[in-house]
Amino acid sequence: MKKITIAIDGPASSGKSTVAKIIAKNLGYTYLDTGAMYRSATYLALQNNLTEKDVPAILEQLAQHPISFAKASDGSQLVYVGDRDITAPIRDNQVTNNVSWVAAIPEVREELVAQQRRIAETGAIIMDGRDIGTVVLPQAELKIFLIASVEERAERRFKENQEKGIQTDFETLKKEIADRDYKDSHRKVSPLKAADDAITFDTTGVDIQGVVDFIQEKAQKIIDKG
Ligand code: DC
Repeated sequence: MKKITIAIDGPASSGKSTVAKIIAKNLGYTYLDTGAMYRSATYLALQNNLTEKDVPAILEQLAQHPISFAKASDGSQLVYVGDRDITAPIRDNQVTNNVSWVAAIPEVREELVAQQRRIAETGAIIMDGRDIGTVVLPQAELKIFLIASVEERAERRFKENQEKGIQTDFETLKKEIADRDYKDSHRKVSPLKAADDAITFDTTGVDIQGVVDFIQEKAQKIIDKG
């Protein structure tokens, strides 16, 4: 059966990783969360009190503590830098609110994009991020750009946090999402943008299964064509 490459891009909390994980499982594909890689770089920068002025030191940290992924016993994905499990800390507010400046550093992007392309070499991959269809895998057979209103994305994040027992203020969450959208789409290098040949899908009011079905149907057509 033909193995394809699927790129899913879109703004923060648009549901990319949730649906990408399900589709990867259904198709038996590898899932790569590129946001987790930028979060890992941010974690290393913060741990070492580095700022945007310390680009060589951030790259050095990335070289010394390579990012890797593993599977937990419940099937969920674990993220490591070197031998340190940072799955939980990379979701902390401090990382979330600093990731935009780290992800805007051209040298960091160059390094992480090279790693992402190496992982994709074998095909049968579904990758999510901001620049997958435009920069990382412009040759991907299927490119999806997911969007949803800021209100709805803040609601999804709010519920997720509640389930994890994390206290958050809804208005603050909305502002943080809108700020990150702005920074991600206005940075000079690889801004968040739909590829010309991407299919844009507005998930506002659509449940997870609805989004999965939409993408998987498109993927299946391409796979069946051979
Ligand atoms: O998908 P996420 O929210 O975990 O991503 C965290 C940040 O990383 C996001 O604000 C922008 C950045 N990012 C990026 O610049 N390019 C990617 N391919 C993925 C994420």
